This record gives sequence, structure tokens and C-alpha cells, in this order.
Amino acid sequence: MNILEKYSLAGKVAVVTGASQGLGRGYAAGLAEAGARVMCCARSVGELRSVAEEIAGKGGRAEPISLDVTRYEETGKIFEAVRDKCGRLDILVNNAGTEEVADFVDVTPAQYDKIMDVNLKGAFFTAQAAARIMKEQKKGKILNIGSLGSAIGLARSSVYCGTKGGVLQMTRAMAIELAPYNIQVNALGPGYFRTPMTEPFFQDPTHKKWIEERIPAGRVGTVEDLLGAVIFLCSDASDYLTGQILYVDGGWLAS
Ligand SMILES: NC(=O)c1ccc[n+]([C@@H]2O[C@H](COP(=O)([O-])OP(=O)(O)OC[C@H]3O[C@@H](n4cnc5c(N)ncnc54)[C@H](OP(=O)(O)O)[C@@H]3O)[C@@H](O)[C@H]2O)c1
Repeated sequence: MNILEKYSLAGKVAVVTGASQGLGRGYAAGLAEAGARVMCCARSVGELRSVAEEIAGKGGRAEPISLDVTRYEETGKIFEAVRDKCGRLDILVNNAGTEEVADFVDVTPAQYDKIMDVNLKGAFFTAQAAARIMKEQKKGKILNIGSLGSAIGLARSSVYCGTKGGVLQMTRAMAIELAPYNIQVNALGPGYFRTPMTEPFFQDPTHKKWIEERIPAGRVGTVEDLLGAVIFLCSDASDYLTGQILYVDGGWLAS
């Protein structure tokens, strides 16, 4: 196979969770542009329909699927339905996530549970559902979504950082168990990107300035800045790369 062909996702079936808005919406569009048939998952089905229509309008293939990653018992059935419909499952971009900023001393058990349930437990059982299918195929890619909070502490985000540190560790543990089945499990660590989740940070001039001053690249990234890494980590070009996190942060963590 030609080296450039290894980066193509033509003929592959991908699931993207949290595809209704923000970065997940961009990942779904990028994977479709690279050739994948993309199953766009989230709770807001109306939004997912518009994502799928937008992708179809550009000549790609995408379909909306209602999935709440905290309904752990349903996740397996939804992934089996994807496999039955599409014949296989090649890629999971395990992106659904949530955040509720609060001082550590003020975090309530309800806030803690909400963030943990989506970001860590939800991501865990979504990856498990995908891995069960990929194991049968002896091929697959799982891309978990970490954060700067996988590597460093972020103030007022203690639970979020706990989940994203956990995402990195579970990525490593999943990777070693799944490597014999030719399934690669990696994580993407985006820096700060402007999405509905981070919009309150960018609306606050002090916080916005703090973010911008810490990016050596001198600008806040866009989802397009993440797509090269996403497509690489979901493609045959990364078949010998597993258990790693790739930070795409304009140089933040290097500084
Ligand atoms: N933006 C950043 O700067 C940044 C940086 C590092 C890492 N990340 C990570 O990247 C991912 C996406 O972040 P974002 O900024 O794009 O956030 P966002 O704009 O808030 O989007 C979050 C997505 O997750 C979905 N979601 C939330 N709870 C869900 C649930 N229970 N079941 C299924 N889907 C659920 C939402 O869809 P519904 O509400 O329709 O379900 C939405 O599509 C997250 O894991 C986040 O931690 C973001």
C-alpha cells in the first residue's frame, strides 16, 4: 500500500460520540472527508441530523444515532446495531465529555458524579462496547479524548482533571490488552479550543487573556488544527502506535 493510501479512511466505519457540537462535530466532518462512513452519536438528535446533512452536502456519509454514554447498558446494543447495519466497526472517537467548573472545596457529590459518569465511566464503557466488536474483527482504532488536564492541574477543574488523568491511564491499560488483537488505543490531548464547553472561559476577558498568553503558537487553535492528528491516529498509518497520548496544544505543555 502506498504511504499516502495508509492515511485514507475510505471504506471504514467510524463512531464519533459527542458529535452534536463542538470538537466532536468537527471530528465527524473530518473523518467523513477522509472517506469514512460516520455514525454521529449524542443525545441531541436534532443537532446530529444537521451534522449528518452538512456532511452529506459535502459528499460524505454520516448518520445520526441517539446515544447517552451514561446509559451503560444500552451502549453495547447500539454498537452491535452499528456493526449489523454497516458490517463492521473500524474506528471509535470517544469524545463525549462534560465540565462544570467549581472550586475544589465547593464541588458537590452530584457535580462529581455527573462529570465522572460522562468523562470516565461513559468513555470506559463506550470503548468496551467498541472493543468487543473490534476483537472479533481483529482490527480497530479507539481514540479516547484527554486534555491538558491529563498532564497538568487546571484550577477549578479538579474533577475534570481527575477524569482526564483517568482517560490517559485507561488508554494505556486498554492498549496493552487489545494490542494482540490488532486494536490500537490512543488518546488525543487538545489544548484550549473554543467550543460551547469552553465558551464561558473565552467570554471572561481575564481567562481569555490567560489562555492566549500561554500558547506559544500565538493563537487559539481551531478544530481543523486537530484533524491531522485525529485522522493519523484513526488510520492504518498508525498501526504500530498504541497506548500513547498526542497533545495538540500549540506548544502549551512544552513551555
Ligand atoms: N474544547 C476544548 O478546549 C477541549 C480541550 C480538551 C479536551 N476537550 C474534550 O473534548 C471533548 C469535546 O469537548 P467540546 O469542547 O467539544 O465540548 P462540548 O461543546 O460541550 O460538546 C460535548 C459533546 O458531548 C456530548 N455529550 C455530553 N454528555 C453526553 C452524554 N451523556 N452522552 C452522549 N453525549 C454527550 C454533547 O452532546 P449532547 O449534549 O447532544 O449529548 C456534545 O456533543 C470532551 O471530552 C472535552 O473534555 C475539549
